[in-house]
This record gives sequence, C-alpha cells and structure tokens, in this order.
Amino acid sequence: MDAHPADTDKTLGPGPGSAPPPPSAMPRRGFLALATAALGTLIAAVLAVPGAAFILTPLRRKGSGGEFHSVTRLSQLEVGVPRSFAIVEERRDAWVRYPREPVGSVWVIRQQPGQKEQVIAFQSECPHLGCAINLRGDQTGFLCPCHTSAFTFEGQPTNHVPPRPMDRLEVELSSDEDPEVRVKYQRFRTATEEKIPLA
Ligand code: FES
Repeated sequence: MDAHPADTDKTLGPGPGSAPPPPSAMPRRGFLALATAALGTLIAAVLAVPGAAFILTPLRRKGSGGEFHSVTRLSQLEVGVPRSFAIVEERRDAWVRYPREPVGSVWVIRQQPGQKEQVIAFQSECPHLGCAINLRGDQTGFLCPCHTSAFTFEGQPTNHVPPRPMDRLEVELSSDEDPEVRVKYQRFRTATEEKIPLA
C-alpha cells in the first residue's frame, strides 16, 4: 500500500529537491530573539525601580523626631499647677496610615513669672518601665503607680526607683496676645539612665 503524501513529508524531511532556507533566516531569528530579550530586560528594569522605591521608602523614612502639638492657651494654665493633656496623632507603621487617635499624654506646668521658661512640659510615660505618671494624692509632686517612682514638679526623682528624671519636652509659645502652648511630643527609651529618643 502506497504511503500518504503527508506521511512522507513528516518522516523524510526536505528532499533533495527542496529549496534550502534563505541564507539570512538564521541571523534574523537570532536578532529578533536578542531584541526581545533586551526589551524584556528594559521593561523589567523600568517596573522594578518604582516598585523598589515603594518598598524601601518606609524603611528609609526617619523617625519624625517629634512634632509640636498645640495643647492649650497660656491663659488656661494656672501658675504652678500641673495639667495633663492628651496628644492625638495620626499613627503609621511601615505601610499603613491609621486614623488620628490618642498616642500619649504630657504634663504641662506654667512657671512663676520671671522664670527663664514660662511653661515646662514632661512626657507622662515613666522612665522606669513606661507606666503613666500621675499626680501624688497630696498634689505635691508626681507619682507613678506601678512601682512608686516619685518626682518633684521639676521632674527630679525623689526616690531611687526611676533610672532618670522625667523626660522634659520642648515647649514653644505662639506670638499671639494669649499665646498658644505647643509641646513637641516625643517618646524615650525606658529603663535607661540616658534619655534616648525612640525613632
Ligand atoms: S513604670 Fe513607673 S515606677 Fe515602674
């Protein structure tokens, strides 16, 4: 039985009478493959740069070093009487931004007239292990209820529990007639003698 012409083509390949591939076919195929690979590399590089920037930006972002928060007006502070103010901030981690919420609090004290600074402020986190510092029951100083760290209204320790004084915060007053009191809110490492800002 005679073989079908199609079967003959599959098994035998080009016959002696077949035309040879044009001499330029192989180099052109090679050039196209090379160009495709180069284009792919270029596209990958273009996409990779912004992608890498997006991923690395939060890692490169420095700690803010604290921001000033307006807490009250000077006229609202009674000389020598500490007042606590909540600090509300927008919280962020590496890639997520959360709604504004209380992140901590500060103690603010208006000083006697004639003092170098009209207002001083302290971080309310205890430098011992971070509990919230409160007023003593007799209102003569500060006291941390967790392990009894005690401080004067100048933030100096009055016992040996805390490793350092209360953490002072920068204060600035606006130039209004009744100045706005702004406190630079920062947090610090606990359980160290040195005052080390957290990033
Ligand atoms: S955390 Fe304040 S005394 Fe320990």
